[in-house]
Amino acid sequence: MIVSPSILSADFSHLLDDVLDVQEMGAQYIHIDVMDGHFVPNISLGPVVLESLKGKCSVIKDVHLMIDEPLKYAESFKKAGADIITFHYEVVSDVKFAIKKIKELGVKVGISIKPKTDVKVLLPYLNDLDLILIMSVEPGFGGQKFMENSLPKIKFLAEERCKLGLNYLIEVDGGINLETAKLCKDNGCDIAVAGTSIFKASDRNKVVKGLLEL
Ligand code: DX5
Ligand code: ZN
Repeated sequence: MIVSPSILSADFSHLLDDVLDVQEMGAQYIHIDVMDGHFVPNISLGPVVLESLKGKCSVIKDVHLMIDEPLKYAESFKKAGADIITFHYEVVSDVKFAIKKIKELGVKVGISIKPKTDVKVLLPYLNDLDLILIMSVEPGFGGQKFMENSLPKIKFLAEERCKLGLNYLIEVDGGINLETAKLCKDNGCDIAVAGTSIFKASDRNKVVKGLLEL
């Protein structure tokens, strides 16, 4: 699988060291969780933190906007180095417009749905998306338990992709470890986001390598 370690669980006092560490182990992406205290009950980081990594690492910067007004801030994240910008389906009234605006910035665009959102709401947009992020926990905090209702959603998206001849990537986020990532992979998932299981591991290399080998 593609591995996207979530820096939410990294050591912010040594952020670049942690990012270079997982990059060295083979992680292709890093996942940047942006929380505004409105869409989710937590506040995390803004573009200035992403900017601090600019030009210092080669991993793809996978930005997950858990905020009420993604279009207001997307450009700042692009300028700070984002390669992929993912917004939440639940916060935008015009999904097509949001996809178009983010694409115009010259980044890849992703959409995410919360655990209680029906995956079928994404059907009208599949053709326009580079990535779909299935939340396998309620967004807002790291360290939660994986929710298995994400699996049929992943399977559905993988089947639609095949049926329609599309090539969006399917990403899963929340409670991912070697065991839950395997379940996701078996259902057609391409990218594993993992925070706690990587950055808090006693043997980080084993976890990253294990995920890469799935
Ligand atoms: C949750 C975030 C996740 C989180 C995952 O709102 O979107 O990316 O960091 O953390 P773990 O892997 O600890 O569940
Ligand atoms: Zn995330």
